[in-house]
Amino acid sequence: MSLKRRRQLLELSRKHGVMIVADEVYQLLSYGDDPPPPMAALDTEARVLGLGSFSKILAPGLRLGWIQAQPELLARLTGSGLLQSSGGMNPFTSSLVQSVIENGLQRRHLDNLKSIHFTPNKGGECDEVPNLDVFSDGHDDPAL
Ligand SMILES: Cc1ncc(COP(=O)(O)O)c(C=O)c1O
Repeated sequence: MSLKRRRQLLELSRKHGVMIVADEVYQLLSYGDDPPPPMAALDTEARVLGLGSFSKILAPGLRLGWIQAQPELLARLTGSGLLQSSGGMNPFTSSLVQSVIENGLQRRHLDNLKSIHFTPNKGGECDEVPNLDVFSDGHDDPAL
């Protein structure tokens, strides 16, 4: 979505007093020019909850994501008893992913993903199809 449309959406949320939940799990997977900033980065009035997912940038199926929002919105979420007790947010995977971020592997993996699958400055055109043979035993039977 263009920067102009994002700003218009924010204006609508202000006008009608509604919040925006921005499902932007592909925001970091841009090929070529950088995308417009995520919705939460444009929000100065705590109207946006921006959602990201490590399933897209680290490993499929991780089922772990993050929320980007103004501090007062985040405080309401992080102050909930559920989070404070580590009761529902996949603590094992969370701590694993935290290490991956802190030691720089997440950044490197994301750069690698982008360089393997796409060549920049070709308008997002796929340059190379990754070899998926590793997932099969050599048979072409789609039922396998
Ligand atoms: C647009 C979009 N939002 C959210 C999700 C959910 O991501 P997760 O695997 O972290 O549940 C997906 C996953 O396919 C998606 O495509």
